[in-house]
Amino acid sequence: MSENFEKTGNIKTGDTEVIRGLEGVVAAETDISYVDGVNGDLYDKGYNIHDLAGVCTYMEVAYLLLHGDLPTKAEGRTFRQQTINEMRLPSQVVKMMEIMPPHSHPMDVLRTVVSSLSNFDPECDDNSPASNKRKAIRLIAQIPTIVAHLYRIRRRESILSPDPHINMAANILYMINGKMPAEDHIRAMDQLLLLHADHGMNASTFAARVTASTHADMHAAVTSAIGTLKGPLHGGANERVMKMLKEINNVDEVEEYIDSMLAQGLRVMGFGHRVYKKEDPRARHLRKSSEMLFKDTSADKNFFSISHRIEDIVLAKKGIYPNVDFYSATVQHALGIPEEFYTTIFAASRISGWTAHILEQYANNRLIRPTS
Ligand code: CMC
Repeated sequence: MSENFEKTGNIKTGDTEVIRGLEGVVAAETDISYVDGVNGDLYDKGYNIHDLAGVCTYMEVAYLLLHGDLPTKAEGRTFRQQTINEMRLPSQVVKMMEIMPPHSHPMDVLRTVVSSLSNFDPECDDNSPASNKRKAIRLIAQIPTIVAHLYRIRRRESILSPDPHINMAANILYMINGKMPAEDHIRAMDQLLLLHADHGMNASTFAARVTASTHADMHAAVTSAIGTLKGPLHGGANERVMKMLKEINNVDEVEEYIDSMLAQGLRVMGFGHRVYKKEDPRARHLRKSSEMLFKDTSADKNFFSISHRIEDIVLAKKGIYPNVDFYSATVQHALGIPEEFYTTIFAASRISGWTAHILEQYANNRLIRPTS
């Protein structure tokens, strides 16, 4: 199936209307996050994302999503420690990652490994709120480790244990690259994680909630979410953005490249959104990060400048703004992450939102079962 398909076109038969893509359908009540598409705002637990970005850490926002408010200093320290302590993976799971075919997509490995983790979780069959909160923390801790381990396994490098003295963002970069990251890289990774942590009733969160609504366990719900995030219309867009950037040699080629895409009816990856009618507020922060990371670049190709030109052209020709996935691509590139891993980094952050939504679904559940 082509990646460029789909037209809206609701179908009305008598009194029944099929809302294609459930556009505008309110499917759940949540106080975890709110996307204000008209004003281009995002709120996590009532906090505007612009007030969180650059001020809080990803770990503080993960705590916010799970516990309902930002942590005190002591609560933040405890949560960070608790999470870092849960980052190690069972050795059998690491072995499983080692025997995965080297060409398999990291998102497919991540989905399989997370699914397998349920078999090793001591509380797999306990669906009580307290147990589910502990499982949420374990998954928030383990997904970054899976991503980093897989990166090193693919390069035939030995896997690294997390460093208990550094935060999650620093640990991800450290466990991937094998050296302590620079401060500006830690800040950029931390902000990227913070910005991706939750986003209303997006497709993967909805998938997680549908699975949770059957009283299936948390690992099952997260596995559904990872499968859904992979698609190029959702989190998989960030990887496609980098593929596009690599096809464009310099800023002067951008207009012709985009014109050709639009003439063929293709979608420019990292642009457009179902809910936002204005700029995705997360793009503003990622654009800044990207610009900062490429400022002193000695590389022969400045991906930030090309991205910025694409943004101007797409806005002028289609009136469409970049979404979170657009500048996430160049930020991750600058942090040394290969493009096939971009969506796994998205998952390493969104796990905090998914688990918060799964807990909320369990707490006030009714089977999600629409008609057709
Ligand atoms: N490039 C070119 N045209 C676009 C794009 C795009 N990226 N996005 C929307 N359009 C056009 C589309 O062709 C259609 O035009 P027309 O009515 O003339 O046919 C119109 O805008 C409406 O499109 P739609 O498909 O009905 O809108 P939607 O709400 O179903 O799609 C979307 C939302 C995100 C799937 C879409 O904008 C898209 O395919 N974007 C590219 C993929 C992407 O970046 N996905 C990441 C989404 S946000 C972050 C995340 O969840 O990971």
